[in-house]
Amino acid sequence: MPKAKTFFQCSECGYETYKWLGRCPECQKWHTLIEKDRPIRDKGSSVADGEPRLLEEIGSFFQERFFTGINEFDRVLGGGVVPGSTVLVGGDPGIGKSTLLMQVVLRLSFEGYKVLYVSGEESLPQLKMRAVRLGFDREPLWVLAETQYSAIADFIERYEPHVVIIDSIQTMAKSDVDNLPGSVAQVREVTTSLQQVAKNKHITLFFVGHVTKEGVIAGPRMLEHMVDCVLYFEGERYHSFRVLRCIKNRYGSTNEMGVFTMENNGLLEVDNPSALFLEQRSSPVAGVSVVPVMEGSRPLMVEIQSLVTPSYFGGPPRRNSAGLDHNRVSLIIAVLEKKAGMALPNQDIFVNAVGGVKIIEPAVDIGIAVSIASSFREKPLKQGTMLLGEVGLTGEIRPVSRVGERLNEGIKMGFTRCILPSGNLKREFSYSEAVSKNAELIAVEQLGDVLEVAMD
Ligand code: TYD
Ligand code: MG
Repeated sequence: MPKAKTFFQCSECGYETYKWLGRCPECQKWHTLIEKDRPIRDKGSSVADGEPRLLEEIGSFFQERFFTGINEFDRVLGGGVVPGSTVLVGGDPGIGKSTLLMQVVLRLSFEGYKVLYVSGEESLPQLKMRAVRLGFDREPLWVLAETQYSAIADFIERYEPHVVIIDSIQTMAKSDVDNLPGSVAQVREVTTSLQQVAKNKHITLFFVGHVTKEGVIAGPRMLEHMVDCVLYFEGERYHSFRVLRCIKNRYGSTNEMGVFTMENNGLLEVDNPSALFLEQRSSPVAGVSVVPVMEGSRPLMVEIQSLVTPSYFGGPPRRNSAGLDHNRVSLIIAVLEKKAGMALPNQDIFVNAVGGVKIIEPAVDIGIAVSIASSFREKPLKQGTMLLGEVGLTGEIRPVSRVGERLNEGIKMGFTRCILPSGNLKREFSYSEAVSKNAELIAVEQLGDVLEVAMD
């Protein structure tokens, strides 16, 4: 059977089919499938290398990286930038993506790298104003206010920079694609074409991508598949701190988190994020517990706050949580009722991880349990207490990983007592540092015991 010469592509979501359809099966929009010439499939591959080869014959090579000098940024990337890679930086409008990248490239230009900053959103005077605000001091940084791919590619060919910033990918367009900038087709075409230019010349590309209300990079999900590394820049609009997270990394781990605060003259690195997430209080308050959680390779002290109040009007009780896994919170409430004899069915329960962090690791479980119990009983925890442990369905406290690092972080932040799973004390050989600093370690096996030792 002869192959079809054309195919149909949805102008909204990029769905492709060889058959015309009235409605796109992917995004359910009507009359969006447009006939196109069949693409030459192997054209877009930037890693194609002819013949297959035996793996053992391929020499391994050390992936060299360069540093931007902004430690939090380098760490999230897995220890610096891999030359020739493509990095997507996503985030809500106004969160500070342009500021972050401008700070990065000012440092790089200062170090002697040739950098081109392409802005499709701001004029050159606006870029200059931001750079001056960030402490620009005659670094040789090239800026270009442009949205047309051909002009950008032309400049890259001529000037051969080491690093190119595209701010933002949703404003860029290629003239031979009919769709509007920001559409799937445009974003895909511009991204592939820029990547081809960049890979040939070993240029590092940073794309800025806006994020929709649903929290995904606007329009094209496929953009995430096309790049080597995806970073999200997050934060609460009315808080000054910002968190940079890696959600995909072809060259390293995705566990790292970088913390910054947005100040008048740009983003400031936070070396000691625990201090940021702990509320400063002179005396303990009911409903509050503190847990050392691991964020990537770093321990971080996080405060868990609960509010338990009687629910009125006979409706089902409300169970809200922020920054924590909702199902996990429900499970812990059920275990508190069944195994610790707490009567919670007529109580509204609200649980938050303070400061807008998101915690998914189960080591935080007993912190959640104790903060709920503490609010319910209106009794604060004993001064200087931190907690660590996973809660099982039978109420048993299960061991967690990397206790030594967590303990040290807590002690550094002024905690003097740690309630931890007895399994950890048995399993792990020494907490010499904790012991030498006179921290009191209290091993527990059951949730009931925890409640006893945590509060007066
Ligand atoms: P911006 O980097 O433009 O955000 P994005 O590119 O993600 O849309 O930064 C936006 C906000 O940051 C803006 O509201 C002003 C504020 N800001 C500061 O507070 N301090 C600064 O030094 C700079 C440059 C911006
Ligand atoms: Mg911007």
